[in-house]
Amino acid sequence: MKIGIIGAGRIGATLARHFARIGHDVALSNSRGPETLTDLVQELGSSVRATTAAEAADHGQVVVVTIPYGRFRELPAEQLHGKVVVDTCNYYPERDGHDPELDADITTSSEKIRAFTGANLVKAFNAIYWENLRDRGLPKGDPGRLAIPVSGTDWEAKAVVSGLIRDIGFDPVDAGDLGLGGRKHQPGSRVYGAELSADELSGAVGAGASAARA
Ligand SMILES: NC(=O)c1ccc[n+]([C@@H]2O[C@H](COP(=O)([O-])OP(=O)(O)OC[C@H]3O[C@@H](n4cnc5c(N)ncnc54)[C@H](OP(=O)(O)O)[C@@H]3O)[C@@H](O)[C@H]2O)c1
Repeated sequence: MKIGIIGAGRIGATLARHFARIGHDVALSNSRGPETLTDLVQELGSSVRATTAAEAADHGQVVVVTIPYGRFRELPAEQLHGKVVVDTCNYYPERDGHDPELDADITTSSEKIRAFTGANLVKAFNAIYWENLRDRGLPKGDPGRLAIPVSGTDWEAKAVVSGLIRDIGFDPVDAGDLGLGGRKHQPGSRVYGAELSADELSGAVGAGASAARA
């Protein structure tokens, strides 16, 4: 699959490494330009190339957005419109600046990124600490396999993203839509950063969760 990644930090580079390892064709980008990613893509191998963010968005059948939430208005909205986009971003006011709508819990960070881009957004990989994402992938059925919550409104998009999660060694658990569902795994929620099995995570994010795991 062709995968674009916008953001080449801890999460972006970790996902690029995983996706390349299982045979995907990855375009990786940051804000400073592809020339600043030369060493990283060389280390990641020939399945990963450095591009601009707009090129990564164009390239991907699935595009991962993994940047500080406060910079989402810099995203290439035109290229992301209608695409399956995986949103790993979390809102940290001390890093991102205050967003009054999020402070008042009127909406969620993912809903705002969806509104800005018009993308078919799936929230995932936001609640797992990056070192666990890097190091703790395990084969299907291993009792130590960690679960990753996923939310969004489009079942097909969630199925694609869930497949990627499984393929890199984790169990996806559906938390629901981006509103109520997304709130269940954003910072401050009980599952955020927790190291849980699929059954434990399904129990924590509530009704409907296990049905979508299949
Ligand atoms: N760290 C974790 O354990 C963790 C876990 C789950 C979710 N998250 C969330 O996932 C997101 C990424 O986290 P991270 O830890 O990977 O961050 P990070 O290490 O600070 O990396 C951020 C990356 O985003 C890039 N970036 C910033 N603005 C951009 C833009 N407008 N266009 C393209 N790229 C841009 C930066 O590129 P430049 O350096 O060129 O600006 C950098 O490569 C954050 O929202 C974070 O809260 C983090």
